[in-house]
Amino acid sequence: HPDHRGFEIVAREDFSDVTYLLEVHHPQMAKAARAGQFVIVMLHEHGERIPLTIADFDRQKGTITLVIQAVGKTTREMQQVCRVGTHLLALTGPMGEPSHIGGQRHVVCVGGGLGVAPIFPQARAYKESGATVVAVVGFRSKDLVFWEDKFRACCDEVIVCTDDGSAGLKGNVTTGLRQALDADPEIDEVVAIGPPVMMKACAEVTRPRNIKTVVSLNPIMVDGTGMCGGCRVKIGTGIKFACVDGPDFDAHQVDFDDLMVRLKRFSETEKAALARWEE
Ligand code: FES
Repeated sequence: HPDHRGFEIVAREDFSDVTYLLEVHHPQMAKAARAGQFVIVMLHEHGERIPLTIADFDRQKGTITLVIQAVGKTTREMQQVCRVGTHLLALTGPMGEPSHIGGQRHVVCVGGGLGVAPIFPQARAYKESGATVVAVVGFRSKDLVFWEDKFRACCDEVIVCTDDGSAGLKGNVTTGLRQALDADPEIDEVVAIGPPVMMKACAEVTRPRNIKTVVSLNPIMVDGTGMCGGCRVKIGTGIKFACVDGPDFDAHQVDFDDLMVRLKRFSETEKAALARWEE
């Protein structure tokens, strides 16, 4: 059981000015977590609830790992105050449907930017299920590359892409994805996690090739229980809630344009909240 302060942060690593990793002690969560799930974090009593995909879990150490981008009020505040030995007040989950892993033979796992972290447990789980796994991980530049060694340790091949060509292939992840697909006609599933525009681009690469593609959506989540409707996404002709029906969906069915409009509207509200906090 956690003490009254919450769940202790046992490790922190900064990948860049805005991206940081927190490893949090929570043995029950570590035991229950499966690839594709997320948690809802509350920093302190008056803090907002923020959903974060589980980037790793270690059942032996009893920890879960979160990789966070300081883009909003809470994530920036956390960047300042979360140190080893401090605590997160609340950590709820694991939430969402675990990814459907098993039965696939040749898989490409694509992670772009911050999406590189949550694609990791998926790549590992596919590998553990017996699939051949190629990881395609994309970053803006060499300085921002993280976890390449972790991927190399559990994947059959790792293709690093950078926008400026300072490491690996020059170009975004679709360049790496195309290369992986051309090299292996047996690929039967692609999983992509990253910004909506990136996931959309991956879906357009695999659609004409008829390869099943799964994306993990990260819309605005508030309660994470299917009650608030904040995480509504258009899938095919229907409406789904990412927090309970997802976060994984068939990429070829997702209305990414609708998702991007909703996220943009949200970021304006978020900017206002950030300005208030920084006053
Ligand atoms: Fe509220 Fe999904 S987060 S319905």
